[in-house]
Amino acid sequence: MRPDQPDRRCRAAILISGSGTNLQSFIDQAHADQLDVDIVKVLSNRPDAYGLTRARSASIATACVEHRDFADREAFDRAVAATLDEHEPELVVLAGFMRILSPWFVRHYEGKILNIHPALLPKYPGLDTHARVLEAGDSRHGSTVHFVTDELDGGPRILAGRIAVDPNESADELQARVQALEHQIYPQAAQWFAEGRLTFRDGAALLDGEKLTEPVVVDFP
Ligand code: GAR
Repeated sequence: MRPDQPDRRCRAAILISGSGTNLQSFIDQAHADQLDVDIVKVLSNRPDAYGLTRARSASIATACVEHRDFADREAFDRAVAATLDEHEPELVVLAGFMRILSPWFVRHYEGKILNIHPALLPKYPGLDTHARVLEAGDSRHGSTVHFVTDELDGGPRILAGRIAVDPNESADELQARVQALEHQIYPQAAQWFAEGRLTFRDGAALLDGEKLTEPVVVDFP
């Protein structure tokens, strides 16, 4: 909670494309009063995303805007923003939202968009991170919360969760372990934002007023 406004919760919109386990961690922690966030809308670009069912079960407003219905990326993004802006979000949380955002959208919500990417950024931007980590024989892997900028998976990093890789595990097993830590670090970063401790200024992430040149790293078993 913000020290200057103790009763106020941060209004967040959550964007998904799929299962929504990260969304569920936000719902659960907000419900348990461990997260000073009001989820004002859950929006998916896919009508069959299971996360929409999770949101409806928690009585959260939902919307589906299908990217196929729009001529280009920015037209889709403008429709998404029009839907979100009905709820005046202060934070936009990308939780497995598998669309690249247009520069227009990033500017519209500058400094207010968080993403989680399943890799220890700057390593492995893009897709298939777990298989690529195993293929490369890396000893460590994890997930990173960052502010969104125009650079794909390249915005200022905030918080990373790290695990040791077992070379004998499958990509699916590795993914499950990474997702379990995401459910802790993503609400944590959102809580810092809700408290006003995490801010974005001049293209950098600041925590308690200090520029983060490296993300905060938490090791998980
Ligand atoms: C998460 O693991 C997240 O890191 C990843 O999608 C998954 C969504 O899972 N995001 C990306 O790959 C974005 N580049 P969920 O729908 O169960 O939360």
